[in-house]
Amino acid sequence: MSNPFDLSDRVIAITGASSGFGHHFAGVLAANGATVLLGARRVEKLEDRVAEITKDGGKAQARALDVTQTDSIHKFIDAAFEEHGRLDAIINNAGVEAGAKTYTMIDETDWDYVLNTNLKSAWVVSKYYTEQVLAHKQPLGNIVMISSITDTRTIKGQFPYAVSKGALTRMTEVMALEAARYNIRVNALAPGYILTDVSRILLESDQSDDFMKGIPMRRYGEFDDLDGPILLLTSDASKYMTGATITVDGGHVCSSL
Ligand SMILES: NC(=O)c1ccc[n+]([C@@H]2O[C@H](COP(=O)([O-])OP(=O)(O)OC[C@H]3O[C@@H](n4cnc5c(N)ncnc54)[C@H](OP(=O)(O)O)[C@@H]3O)[C@@H](O)[C@H]2O)c1
Repeated sequence: MSNPFDLSDRVIAITGASSGFGHHFAGVLAANGATVLLGARRVEKLEDRVAEITKDGGKAQARALDVTQTDSIHKFIDAAFEEHGRLDAIINNAGVEAGAKTYTMIDETDWDYVLNTNLKSAWVVSKYYTEQVLAHKQPLGNIVMISSITDTRTIKGQFPYAVSKGALTRMTEVMALEAARYNIRVNALAPGYILTDVSRILLESDQSDDFMKGIPMRRYGEFDDLDGPILLLTSDASKYMTGATITVDGGHVCSSL
């Protein structure tokens, strides 16, 4: 039986691959055979990651990408189709937060920064990706959103980050419904608390002990806790899945009240 997780001959693009999850996912997908296209604004960090992956025998390319700029998104996706003739999956991973602020503390600049990066970009990327899948008569397409457990439950001070993630999960469901006719699947991964540049401010704060008590498995997640789920969503192993959100959080969202 062939390995349903095998990504040989697949081309997969990741937004926000210069650090954190995207940086990690690039290595995981390349190690399983994919040619990985890494996009972000800090190109030198992407190039360093590409060098590491290449040294390990993987295939990867670095591309400048600002997901708040439609032209930049179009160039990123166009380059994939021009150079490889296909783009089997795209991971909407780029994300930011506005710091520990409530809805009364943020201003319109914070709102636009977070919502444009985390939410609007996922729509612009997915729309253009869908158009190009159809234009190139690619038989199948695959969109993966990186959401968060704050899509369903949250704490004070995660505004508007949690708003963006709640809407991103909803976007996943609506897009899945609408994209099925094009043979494009749309799913989301919702990680819990995992230590990266985005989560560090919160996880290393005075609230850390309280957070830990709320996680049934009593630990924060490690990058490699996401390896299986991201491989599942980007490979044929999930070929009958669409509109789903996979939560990876040590049981955090089902913790007792
Ligand atoms: N860390 C967690 O515990 C956690 C939990 C749940 C969900 N998430 C989600 O996981 C995703 C990745 O976060 P992370 O924790 O890995 O954070 P991170 O290390 O700060 O990485 C964020 C990535 O997004 C990129 N990015 C930000 N703005 C961008 C823009 N305008 N254009 C292109 N790329 C942009 C950054 O690259 P450049 O600055 O180089 O552009 C960077 O590569 C986010 O969507 C986040 O919400 C994280």
